[in-house]
Formats: sequence, C-alpha cells, structure tokens
Amino acid sequence: MRNGTLKFASLFSGCGGFDLGFIASGFSSCGAYDCEPEAVETFSANIKSPVYNVDLTDGIPNERSLYGIDALISGPPCQGFSTAGKRLIDDKRNDLLPLTGQLARRIYPKVLVVENVAGALSGAHARYWNELDTMMRLAGYRTHTIRCQATDLGMAQLRRRVLFFAWRTSRDTDFTFPHYPAGSLRTVLAGVSRQKNHHPKRLDPGSREWQIATRIKPGQKLSNVRGGENAVATWDIPEVFGAITEDERTVLELLRRLRRQERQRDYGDADPVSIPRLKAALGNCFHRHVEVLVTKGYLRRVEGGIDLAETFNGKFRRLSWHKPSCTVDTRFGSPRYFLHPSQQRGFTVREAARIQGFSDNYIFHGNEKSQYRLIGNAVPPPLAALAADFVKRLLGRVL
Ligand SMILES: C[S@@+](CC[C@H](N)C(=O)[O-])C[C@H]1O[C@@H](n2cnc3c(N)ncnc32)[C@H](O)[C@@H]1O
Repeated sequence: MRNGTLKFASLFSGCGGFDLGFIASGFSSCGAYDCEPEAVETFSANIKSPVYNVDLTDGIPNERSLYGIDALISGPPCQGFSTAGKRLIDDKRNDLLPLTGQLARRIYPKVLVVENVAGALSGAHARYWNELDTMMRLAGYRTHTIRCQATDLGMAQLRRRVLFFAWRTSRDTDFTFPHYPAGSLRTVLAGVSRQKNHHPKRLDPGSREWQIATRIKPGQKLSNVRGGENAVATWDIPEVFGAITEDERTVLELLRRLRRQERQRDYGDADPVSIPRLKAALGNCFHRHVEVLVTKGYLRRVEGGIDLAETFNGKFRRLSWHKPSCTVDTRFGSPRYFLHPSQQRGFTVREAARIQGFSDNYIFHGNEKSQYRLIGNAVPPPLAALAADFVKRLLGRVL
C-alpha cells in the first residue's frame, strides 16, 4: 500500500458538499472551481483550501498543477436532467457533463468521480452520461456507475443520485452500497433551534398560505391530480379556493380520474378530457356543472377539451417527524413547497443543511435564496464520504 496524502481537485464545487466528504476521508484538496460567486464565497469561508471563481467552459486556469492527481471529482449542474424540472434534452448545462470528461482527459487523474441526479441515466438524456463513459474508456479507464439512495446511508433524506467512477489503477473494488435503516426528521433536527442560521419564519396567521397550511397534515400535500388520503385538493379548502356543491365535487373527482385514463399526448401523465367524453360521462348535467366550475376557477378549457385548472402534483408538502425528508432541493425554504412537520412554516437554512448532512458550523453565504440553492445543489457530505472510500479502495489505500 502506498503512503502519502491523497490529493484531489473538484469541478463545479458549489458550496463544497462533495469536497467535504473527500476531506473527511483524508484527502487533501488542490483546488476547487465554480463560476458562482456565492458558492466560492461559501466554500472559502468554510474549507481551508484554494477555490477559484471560474467558468469551466474556458478551461481550468492552473491545469498543469493538477496533472496526474489522485482524484478528480465533479458535480456538474443537474437541472437539465432532473425530473423536477423541464428536462430539456438540449439544455446547454447538459454539455457540462461531457465537459467533465474532456477536462479529466487533460488532467489524467487516477480516479474520476462524477455525481448527478438519477434522471441523467433515463431516456434520451442518458446520451450525455454514455458520452462521458465512452470518453473515459477510450482514454484507458475502467468505468462503473452506481445508483444510490441517501436513506440507505442512514440519512434522513430520500435523495436518489448516480455516481460515476472511472479509474486507471490496477485495483478493482466491489461497489456495493451499504443498507442502513433510514434516519428520521425527528432525529436529524433534534436541538436545531439552538443553532445559528435557525430563524424560523412562521406564516402570518390568517394569510392565504397559512390557511392552506393549517389544512394539511403530516404526510399530505396540496394536489388536485391524485386522490387518496395523502392529497388535499384545492376544493377541500373552500375558505381559500371557493365553495362548491357536492355534485360539483363529483364532477371534479370524475374529471381527475378520466384525465389519466385515455392518454392522447406523449408527455406528462394525463390529458385534458374531450368534451364528447365528458358529456357522455355527465349526461344532461354537463353544461350546468362544467360552466359553473370554469367560472369558479376549478376547471379550464384547453386544447379543445376540459381540464382541471390546477394540475401541479404536490405543493405545501408537509413532512412527517417519524420519516425521512423528501429530497432537499433549491425550493426547500418555501412553505409553498415544503412544510415543517408541526409548525406553519417552511424549513430554515440550518434545518435544510442538517438534512443534507452539513455540520452546524458550516455557514452559507449570499442572500437566503442563494443559501437554499447552494444547499439543495450540494452532494450530501456523507454520500461524498462513501464515494471517497470507494476511491481509496481503487487507489489501494484500503485492503
Ligand atoms: C450541482 S452544483 C455542484 C454542487 C457541489 N458539487 C456540492 O457538492 O456542493 C453545480 C455547480 O456548477 C456550477 N457551474 C455551472 N456552470 C458552471 C461553469 N460553466 N463553470 C463553473 N461552474 C459552473 C454552479 O455554480 C453550481 O455551483
């Protein structure tokens, strides 16, 4: 086994989540690179290693100093691959994944590790991942991709991610992921109220958002497109969205079923219902009920048919104390998306950071929106530490 400090560098380093895991595993950083000032500011305030504010499409400024380094890690933007977004196949940010391969081939690290969302492997979008894989194989690397779920590490967050490894060492490793019981929000948030950056912003009593929040229990969300006990529909909150009759409720629930039954478009998971189909289902009541519900703002005419006016799947999602959190994303501070389990508010920066696995002394810079963005975009440090352990095996540092 070789001795000496293991050296790594980090591309698209953000606030440093990926780096923290490698540092915790004993690696020493030679440089981190990101184009966002708040990311670089946060990184340099918390991690005592060089960080550069650069646009990586222009290359790595001190590239030569990284030649032959032990590990290169990269967390390119995931927005173009994420199922939470529009998933545009030609999103310019998708090109940053193969850019990682081009930069890695120049630096020629012993191991390359890349992290992204699980959506990077599905459908036509997988071509970017495959391009990276091919590029590294052609450069003489062996490659392996693993799918991970953060709760399997014992974290209190559901977060599905993929990790790509490319290595040119003579070693191999078993990339089996551990499987610990998931953590819960109650455990991960214990004592958080005594910490810095914990400034809960309760919703104004009586406000529209407060009225909605008070009607949503742990495990439930505001959603018109799914039935069941975990969904509260806008028509279940008449004090905010307007009263309807029992017959009108029956029409809305019927439409919710029909819109998912006969698919016409090749995107989304439901379609507007054609007027003949709705007339056949409702008979003589069609005109009366549909007109009224359009006027009340619950239905809308679209593409020659009728659809629910609100088709979002899940806002005001209230998390449960005894379960893990759903994925911490950049909207995690907004109560319109995520509600605290027992208070009428969203999550604080400190709570979001804790759920992502940052220690309480990690301070985020920039305005509040930037802080949530930095946290939501980060690789959870415990997941990064697991990746670092695989790298150590590939480098022959663990037998
Ligand atoms: C998913 S985040 C990385 C998170 C980071 N790995 C962590 O664990 O905290 C992607 C980062 O890529 C950066 N980025 C996007 N385009 C870039 C470019 N052209 N050059 C450098 N950085 C870029 C963004 O500023 C953002 O911080």
